[in-house]
Amino acid sequence: MRSTLGLLLIFGLQLSLLVSVDCNDFSSFLSANASLAVVVDHDYMTMHGQNIMAHFEKILSDIIRENLRNGGINVRYFTWNSVRLKKDFLAAITVTDCENTWNFYKNTQETSVLLIAITDSDCPRLPLNRAIMIPLVEHGDEFPQIILDAKVQQILKWKTAVVFVDQTILDENSVLVKSIVHESTTNHIAPISLILYKVNDSLHGQQKRTALRQALGQFAMPKHEQKHQQFLVISKFHEDIIEIAETLNMFHVSNQWMFFVLEELRRDFDASTVTINLDEGANIAFALNETYPDCQDTLNCTISEVSMALVTSISKMISEEQSIYGEISDEEWESIRFTKQEKQDELLEYMKDYLKLNSKCASCARWRIDTAITWGKTQESRQFRTAPTRDAKNRNFDFINIGYWSPLLGFVVQELTFPHIEHHFRNITMDILTVHNPPWQILTKNSLGHIVESKGIVMEIVRELSRALNFTYQLHEAKSWEDEYAISQSKNESEMELLGSMTYRIPSRVTELAQGNQYFLAAVAATIYDPEKRFFNFTQPISVQKYTFITRQPDEVSRIYLFTAPFTQETWGCLVGIIILTAPLLYGINRLAPLEELRIRGLSTIKSCFWYVLGALLQQGGMYLPKADSGRLIVGFWWIVVIVLVTTYCGNLVAFLTFPKYQPGIDYLTQLAHHKHISQYGLRNGTFFEKYTKTTTRKDFKRFMEKAIIYNNAESERIDAVKSGQRINIDWRINLQLIVQQHFEQDKECHFALGKEDFVDEQIGLVVPLNSAYLHLINLHIDRMFRMGFIERWHQMNLPNSDKCNGKSVLRQITNHKVNMNDMQGCFLVLIFGFIVAVLVASIEFWYYRYHLHHQKRKQSVFVN
Ligand SMILES: *[C@@H]1O[C@H](CO)[C@@H](O)[C@H](O)[C@H]1NC(C)=O
Ligand SMILES: *[C@@H]1O[C@H](CO)[C@@H](O)[C@H](O)[C@H]1NC(C)=O
Ligand SMILES: *[C@@H]1O[C@H](CO)[C@@H](O)[C@H](O)[C@H]1NC(C)=O
Ligand SMILES: *[C@@H]1O[C@H](CO)[C@@H](O)[C@H](O)[C@H]1NC(C)=O
Ligand SMILES: *[C@@H]1O[C@H](CO)[C@@H](O)[C@H](O)[C@H]1NC(C)=O
Ligand SMILES: *[C@@H]1O[C@H](CO)[C@@H](O)[C@H](O)[C@H]1NC(C)=O
Ligand SMILES: *[C@@H]1O[C@H](CO)[C@@H](O)[C@H](O)[C@H]1NC(C)=O
Ligand SMILES: *[C@@H]1O[C@H](CO)[C@@H](O)[C@H](O)[C@H]1NC(C)=O
Repeated sequence: MRSTLGLLLIFGLQLSLLVSVDCNDFSSFLSANASLAVVVDHDYMTMHGQNIMAHFEKILSDIIRENLRNGGINVRYFTWNSVRLKKDFLAAITVTDCENTWNFYKNTQETSVLLIAITDSDCPRLPLNRAIMIPLVEHGDEFPQIILDAKVQQILKWKTAVVFVDQTILDENSVLVKSIVHESTTNHIAPISLILYKVNDSLHGQQKRTALRQALGQFAMPKHEQKHQQFLVISKFHEDIIEIAETLNMFHVSNQWMFFVLEELRRDFDASTVTINLDEGANIAFALNETYPDCQDTLNCTISEVSMALVTSISKMISEEQSIYGEISDEEWESIRFTKQEKQDELLEYMKDYLKLNSKCASCARWRIDTAITWGKTQESRQFRTAPTRDAKNRNFDFINIGYWSPLLGFVVQELTFPHIEHHFRNITMDILTVHNPPWQILTKNSLGHIVESKGIVMEIVRELSRALNFTYQLHEAKSWEDEYAISQSKNESEMELLGSMTYRIPSRVTELAQGNQYFLAAVAATIYDPEKRFFNFTQPISVQKYTFITRQPDEVSRIYLFTAPFTQETWGCLVGIIILTAPLLYGINRLAPLEELRIRGLSTIKSCFWYVLGALLQQGGMYLPKADSGRLIVGFWWIVVIVLVTTYCGNLVAFLTFPKYQPGIDYLTQLAHHKHISQYGLRNGTFFEKYTKTTTRKDFKRFMEKAIIYNNAESERIDAVKSGQRINIDWRINLQLIVQQHFEQDKECHFALGKEDFVDEQIGLVVPLNSAYLHLINLHIDRMFRMGFIERWHQMNLPNSDKCNGKSVLRQITNHKVNMNDMQGCFLVLIFGFIVAVLVASIEFWYYRYHLHHQKRKQSVFVN
């Protein structure tokens, strides 16, 4: 035991020693010089026709001499690019072509050497957290590299793209298309499917516009249909393209547009002027050429810049180490000093910082990216608006600079290129209009009249929308002076409000306010009808409500004849028939028995046979049993019939007792004509049903409307008359269910029945301002909520559902099965079969007896003889 423990301890110690040695095997800058490898590919050098290596050595040694104050750097030079670097190299600078750079990178990954690669242009960038790659991009040739970097750095997260490129640019940049479609698994570049359109940039005037319109027209969609499309435009005609695409409704919330502005003097370009006619909601970004016209763009320059960055960064790190080392003990120093990986990460950060600030040569080329912040600009809550005094140029658009691209560092951005696509409304606060209308919108207000709580189906939808679309909202109750007046008026004690709600009449104040574009949405459940004639738009339906009617529940059928209920009339008839048939048969068979002693005296008259059969049926039992086989068969089969009959009767009687039968009620509106005792027809005021019946062809609706009394309050609803069976009311089913529920709670008894039939589907939607850019988006999310089952759940939570009372009225529909001839025919057939067998046996008995008698007689005579 002890020895194993000791062994374990030793093992553990060794392990921990190993581990600690493992993670700190890289010596600090204080104990050893940083080692650097410089690899310049020989082939590359000969191709470029200059002794780069010699230049490099000179430049680098000069820089080290001049800039490295503390410590030292050991540099080793290689001209063979497949050299395998050992673990103790901190970093390597390579100058070679793209393919070899990538190979070198893969090789050095094992020994983890930080790579600073100077290479050709059009090279997919090395991973940004593990290397710096500087493609030598020629003046004006930067597009392929920009596109490649955009894909590697996920600046454009597109799967498909429509690319409009000027013919001349395409001719100049032969690899442009290649870089757009470039895909790679090592680099995690997803493939992109591409539609390339060449713009003939030698066209002018009307010709040009026609060509562009034709090209863009292929991608235009009908207005209500918004598909996600991505457009990349590298054309000097960007202004025309924007203008034409605008007329084709191609700027909307789902599309993304990226423009490269090719103007020589980009300072002339003003994004907000170009987009002045665009509506809110467009996703549009511009890349502007910010290249400094006067700069050296040579390999020498790049080399010295990179060397400078590296040397100053190492110098900085050495002095940092020194300052920390002086303050703490050796043990502490051992535990906190950087591992190789950490050192490289820090070095990378320092170099990037240095290059961002100081680079002069390689970053000649520089493209700035501006993107539009537009979503919700006009509906943003006035209270929270940051810039209320934007100039009148385009109120819908703000352009922000999200960063830039340079060959040295690729894209340096601090925002998404299309922030709205991912962040939607970017957490701005919107104004939303609403009114109190349970169960759709339930507003709770405090004593000051501020809304403190909001519930209900519509409010749940708004809450979910705000979560999905990343905005917060402020509710504003649409209340005018008249509304307040009306509310105080309706507080008349004698006038009770009706239960439930209606959505057909939208308060005038809501329609008034929704017409402007100030509110993002009116969170008001509203019946969708005549959508073309309104000054606002409806969302897709969030609910469908149906109408039905309420009547008195029909009474139960009298139970006097309950005992006859289990069998149909034919079955009863047949039952009587077989009793009448069986009794004489039994008598006859008994009578026909050949021997005197086989005949039973109890069955010797028809009457006693009849009583015998009936007694067996009614379970009184039979006192006698025939002695002859034929008679026994009759009685046996009769007993089978008795068992079946009695069992079915008893079983069915239980069913009829449990589920009482009701008199026929009104299940469908068409049946109303047969019920003369219902004299009053009522219809709630302000229903869509009333409007619907004006255009309908259904006769029962028309008949109903001719006699209907429109009621406005609980008093004229006359629910008592409904209860006594004189009246029928039509309303939404959910409203009627509320009434049923309320009365059930009061009386603990069900007095009402709702119609089986639902009629007139009333669609209910929300209200958005006319031509709102976001209608499609809102619809999309409402659709999503439907599919997730959220809306159904909110309906269940907020609307009355089937309670006990409705449950009982459902039971009313159950019709008990009466036993008919189909059920009993088998039983009767068995009896007939029994009869036949009995008759057969009786005749066999007869003949047998005759033969037997005869035989005995002969024997006797022989004996006598
Ligand atoms: C690069 O620098 C080296 C040494 O500083 C110099 O000899 C060489 O001429 C330079 N090359 C170019 C193209 O300027
Ligand atoms: C470290 O670098 C310094 C200066 O560059 C040099 O003098 C010294 O010999 C180097 N030390 C080692 C161990 O290479
Ligand atoms: C960007 O601007 C620079 C200087 O104005 C110019 O030399 C270069 O050709 C431009 N790039 C493109 C792609 O037009
Ligand atoms: C571009 O337009 C010019 C002028 O109309 C025409 O001559 C030329 O053929 C067109 N080029 C192409 C590729 O269609
Ligand atoms: C909402 O927008 C803010 C501001 O742009 C952003 O920081 C946040 O990540 C967004 N949230 C979601 C869930 O998109
Ligand atoms: C969104 O805005 C609200 C209030 O304006 C703030 O409380 C919340 O923290 C913000 N959320 C994000 C993700 O920025
Ligand atoms: C309020 O009730 C009284 C009777 O109690 C009635 O005379 C009056 O007309 C009612 N007011 C309204 C506005 O309905
Ligand atoms: C919005 O309403 C207008 C007129 O009321 C109508 O012409 C338009 O088609 C509606 N838009 C949608 C997307 O339904």
